[in-house]
Amino acid sequence: MNLFVFILCLTLFVIRSGITSSDERGIFTKFMDMVLSNISATESYILPTDNSELLNITNTIENYYGTFDFIVIGAGAAGAVVANRLSENLKWKILLLEAGGQDNDFTKILGLSTYTYFSDFNWGYNTTTQKHACQGLKNKRAIFPTGKVIGGGTTINAGLYSRGHPEDFNRWVEVYGNQGWSYEEVLQYFKKSENAVFTPRDVDYHGVGGYFTVDYTSDTPGLEPPIIEGFQELGLNYVDYNGRVQNGIAKVQNALKRNERVSSASAFLKEPRRNLEISLNSFVTEIIISADKVAQGVKFVRNGQIFTANARKEVVVSAGVINSAQLLMLSGIGPREHLSQIGIPVKQDLPVGQKLQDHCYFLAFYYRTNHTFYNQNITEQLKLWIKNKRPLTSGFASEMIGFTNFGQSQEKRPEIEFIFSTPGISSDQAQKFLGLTEENAAVFHTNTSTDIWVIPSLLHPKSRGTVTLKSKDPKDRPIIDPNYLSEKHDIDTLYKGIEFLVELSKTRAFKKFGVEILIMDYPECRNLEKLSENWWKCALTQLTTTFLHPASTNNMGPDPKNSVVNARLKVHGIKKLRVADSSILPELTSGHLMAPTMMIGEKAADMIKEDHGNLSV
Ligand SMILES: Cc1cc2nc3c(=O)[nH]c(=O)nc-3n(C[C@H](O)[C@H](O)[C@H](O)COP(=O)(O)OP(=O)(O)OC[C@H]3O[C@@H](n4cnc5c(N)ncnc54)[C@H](O)[C@@H]3O)c2cc1C
Ligand SMILES: *[C@@H]1O[C@H](CO)[C@@H](O)[C@H](O)[C@H]1NC(C)=O
Ligand SMILES: *[C@@H]1O[C@H](CO)[C@@H](O)[C@H](O)[C@H]1NC(C)=O
Ligand SMILES: *[C@@H]1O[C@H](CO)[C@@H](O)[C@H](O)[C@H]1NC(C)=O
Ligand SMILES: *[C@@H]1O[C@H](CO)[C@@H](O)[C@H](O)[C@H]1NC(C)=O
Ligand SMILES: *[C@@H]1O[C@H](CO)[C@@H](O)[C@H](O)[C@H]1NC(C)=O
Ligand SMILES: *[C@@H]1O[C@H](CO)[C@@H](O)[C@H](O)[C@H]1NC(C)=O
Repeated sequence: MNLFVFILCLTLFVIRSGITSSDERGIFTKFMDMVLSNISATESYILPTDNSELLNITNTIENYYGTFDFIVIGAGAAGAVVANRLSENLKWKILLLEAGGQDNDFTKILGLSTYTYFSDFNWGYNTTTQKHACQGLKNKRAIFPTGKVIGGGTTINAGLYSRGHPEDFNRWVEVYGNQGWSYEEVLQYFKKSENAVFTPRDVDYHGVGGYFTVDYTSDTPGLEPPIIEGFQELGLNYVDYNGRVQNGIAKVQNALKRNERVSSASAFLKEPRRNLEISLNSFVTEIIISADKVAQGVKFVRNGQIFTANARKEVVVSAGVINSAQLLMLSGIGPREHLSQIGIPVKQDLPVGQKLQDHCYFLAFYYRTNHTFYNQNITEQLKLWIKNKRPLTSGFASEMIGFTNFGQSQEKRPEIEFIFSTPGISSDQAQKFLGLTEENAAVFHTNTSTDIWVIPSLLHPKSRGTVTLKSKDPKDRPIIDPNYLSEKHDIDTLYKGIEFLVELSKTRAFKKFGVEILIMDYPECRNLEKLSENWWKCALTQLTTTFLHPASTNNMGPDPKNSVVNARLKVHGIKKLRVADSSILPELTSGHLMAPTMMIGEKAADMIKEDHGNLSV
């Protein structure tokens, strides 16, 4: 039992045996109890290594579930939006199938989201052993949390709201040939979802009155001024990064309503609609496709029973970047050679899973300061949370966010993103949530009171990887190989990000703060001169891991040879089948993926309405 667990148990004991004098204290005690028992449950939680629990079939008879106008698979960032918007037409019957279960009060606390990695809310994936990154992680694999709960990733993620740069979307049109996706055309969909309640902001770029509330958190006293001034010394201004100018330094905008997480489920699926049926714990194992290549419906398993449901108009796949690829391949849509090898009859030869792209970040950059930001224990932090105060109101404790590129015009899209967080993670947490080896955890001597954790994330990696199937059995997990840092460009760019952070440490603003770069003695880099370029690059290969933004396994494009869906998100060569989720990105955006994926959901729903003569609703 480590010290952290010991303190938790002690707290639990103290609280259980404590005398509460008023109702308010009683309510707080119950809340504390709930939080602590959720946290301690993660200690003994064993992540499933396959899908046998979801497929525990007790009755082999196939039951007919019903016929719907639309069947949406997956209630994540995109699926929840699609289901909501399609069901605005009360004449249409919608079935939304979600493999995970209900969310709960624990998931509302953004600052504790990492604990949900060890719960039923995570599919529990890991990457394959990596060659060029993750070398200081257990088995050289990245832990790869993926939402398995209503809301999908938006119920377990860090809640940072960022859209990307206009150039990202313009490239989807100009470089990848997808008409209708320029920034000018998609901006309306970002605004449509949003309910921005923070100021100051670039009002022309934000929506008010949408379902999805976005807010700033409270400040960490003392943190923001030096960071803003430091960036200004390096020529970057204070901005609204989702507004007119992205490059610069900003306060993080969060999926946050008062102190609570906003998920796609809490925002888009709260109000029941009689024409929208949401079926949880329903794992779709196949899209039924007729011999003439028309999607007819789906097969799914719920509580040990097998069901089929039919779709009159369309099946929309929103199962996320890994599972949408898995499901298409299980249904016979994928690379011919791969499917043939594992014995799946090929219905449509498409490069499903062949263009996987993901953001990766260096997890061990810390500034040591002579300032104490937080030294509260969990009880005190929860008391602050109730008052809408940090640190638990933001995910990954993120507070400031910066974007820049190197040697280009600042108008061009950024190459690196930086997130500034306090308190950073401890050695124990890095081992548990990020998978550090014991040897690396031993040199990860951070101070959660005084240090600023900085995450540099590589926004436009050239490396691409794959998602493939282990077998034709839906019980088996897909094989995820993001191939991080396999292109020299990627490690070179990430290193430029490190150089920028070194420069920042030398600014007047940072010097006033007593800032020093925390040097960790990575075991595999000991023969190199500390802080030299080679040493940093060694460190990058050791502790660069996933930033949890996988994309592009069903990439959008006009040519079936190198893309899976067209610009209207229809699967090439198959009728009545669309994909709407983060798997359709032709390439990654300059930021996080929740907002772009919700935008895709909004636009998909509009295109579907248009194609079925119903855009006016
Ligand atoms: C831990 C973590 C932190 C992140 N932090 C941020 C952040 O701070 N900001 C940000 O913008 N983005 C963040 N992201 C990324 C963001 O959450 C995802 O990019 C986004 O949720 C992807 O949306 P999606 O609709 O493609 O898939 P998901 O949101 O993953 O939804 C897919 C849904 O489909 C369900 N499903 C899958 N297979 C099946 C099946 N066969 N049958 C039925 N249902 C199925 C899943 O259970 C899931 O609910 C984070 C992601 C993670 C995992
Ligand atoms: C947290 O701090 C408060 C006040 O400082 C103290 O009363 C409480 O016992 C502490 N709890 C734990 C778990 O240390
Ligand atoms: C993935 O990694 C987690 C955390 O290290 C571990 O608990 C789990 O068993 C791993 N799963 C597989 C399939 O290897
Ligand atoms: C399958 O269900 C049975 C009975 O309902 C249960 O005993 C068993 O543990 C389950 N197996 C899995 C893998 O969930
Ligand atoms: C976690 O909290 C939820 C309430 O939000 C509760 O229903 C659940 O039982 C808790 N889980 C554990 C393991 O304590
Ligand atoms: C963190 O720094 C503070 C202030 O210097 C110090 O009092 C504290 O002991 C340090 N904590 C750890 C875990 O090193
Ligand atoms: C932090 O260090 C700087 C530079 O050495 C010094 O000017 C400042 O007074 C220090 N602040 C505190 C709180 O010790």
